[in-house]
Amino acid sequence: MIVTTEKQRGDLIESGKRLARILGVLAGKVAPGVSASELDDLAEKLIRDGGDTPAFLGYKGEGSRPYPATLCVSINDEIVHGIPNESEKIFKEGDIVSLDFGLIHNGVVTDAAVTVAVGNIDEQSKKLLRATENALAAGIAEAIPGNYLGDISHAIQAEIEKAGFAVVKELGGHGVGDEVHEEPFIPNFGKKGEGELLVEGMVLALEPISSAGKSAMTLAPDGWTYRTKDGSRSAHFEHTILIEKSGARIITKL
Ligand code: MF3
Ligand code: CO
Repeated sequence: MIVTTEKQRGDLIESGKRLARILGVLAGKVAPGVSASELDDLAEKLIRDGGDTPAFLGYKGEGSRPYPATLCVSINDEIVHGIPNESEKIFKEGDIVSLDFGLIHNGVVTDAAVTVAVGNIDEQSKKLLRATENALAAGIAEAIPGNYLGDISHAIQAEIEKAGFAVVKELGGHGVGDEVHEEPFIPNFGKKGEGELLVEGMVLALEPISSAGKSAMTLAPDGWTYRTKDGSRSAHFEHTILIEKSGARIITKL
């Protein structure tokens, strides 16, 4: 979506605030013994209580069946799109859990994700979370009018690789706002100055996705869940942002 009116801008900001509030509540509930499906139920309830709609429920990706839940819950070696409500998934001490969902408010879609620790986690996992979150911040810092998509991609890649981790190459960010996934696709690797020019009004979901081992991934038989091929852990942080004259406004932040 390209924001051109004050009404669109207002709806986008409200959509992101609502999403951020709920994501914060969900992240705060992550603890040993909690299940993915109870968080999924809670996410749907909180979204609907606000008069809004889950953006992922029933979403059709390329060729796969519609996504069956409100929330994506991806644990440890699950990279993204883990399904919370089709098998029992209970968080254990030491796990890392990515929570990802989209919300539609007044027709405007926002999308965000965080990866959180279940109790105490090992040092390498802590480093993975930190590097991936830093990569998101580095990408956001490059999202200014006059820069290029490649500036964002490069900044994300540099931050993750600097920490000794790998970027998952097949997945990345995307335009958002009118739909869950819009053009442009935003790789989490690339060269400065390459790709599309960034202009005021662009609404983008930036989402660095990292692997503690190799970057190769596999798709599970459920048609949605991506895992690292080598079983290493993966982290994922995502914000919806709006490119404004002075730089990026983080939309999915309280
Ligand atoms: N945030 C997810 C992404 O950008 C959206 C997943 S759509 C779903 O990849 F249907 F898989 F949930
Ligand atoms: Co996304």
